[in-house]
Amino acid sequence: MTNVLTYGTFDILHYGHIRLLQRAAALGDHLVVAISTDEFNAVKHKQSYYPYAVRKEMLEAIRYVDEVIPERDWGQKVDDVKRHHIDIVVMGDDWRGDEHFEALKAYCEVVYLPRTSGISTTQLKGDIDAGEAAIHPDD
Ligand code: CTP
Repeated sequence: MTNVLTYGTFDILHYGHIRLLQRAAALGDHLVVAISTDEFNAVKHKQSYYPYAVRKEMLEAIRYVDEVIPERDWGQKVDDVKRHHIDIVVMGDDWRGDEHFEALKAYCEVVYLPRTSGISTTQLKGDIDAGEAAIHPDD
């Protein structure tokens, strides 16, 4: 049994998120997704469009996701890894080298997966504001 854990806000779900979750799930048997609470986002000076409860509900509906837990602060990751018997922590490669994930290498494997190009929540918000149509993911 290989347990996998990933972190993120996952606001306004998009295909970059889905592909990350699909690849993370394929690395093991059980995928836990830790999503930032609204209070933790406030600490990071961010505000999501969907509140925590809605983001959680949507992630739980995805076939690749087995469990959703709250990420409440920067310092909980080692505890998460131990508590959930995590073998692999997975992040998009925009997080490569980040001290919080590098520190987990003492406790489990840490894998950075290539981000899907051309899509992010920030970009989606900007495009919708500007009245831009979506680009098909495979174009
Ligand atoms: N991710 C990805 N490909 C994308 C966008 C996100 O693989 N095009 C991954 C991130 O690397 C991270 C996870 O999805 O591991 C959650 O990312 P999150 O920050 O919630 O999504 P973004 O779209 O990057 O949001 P923002 O624009 O607010 O930073």
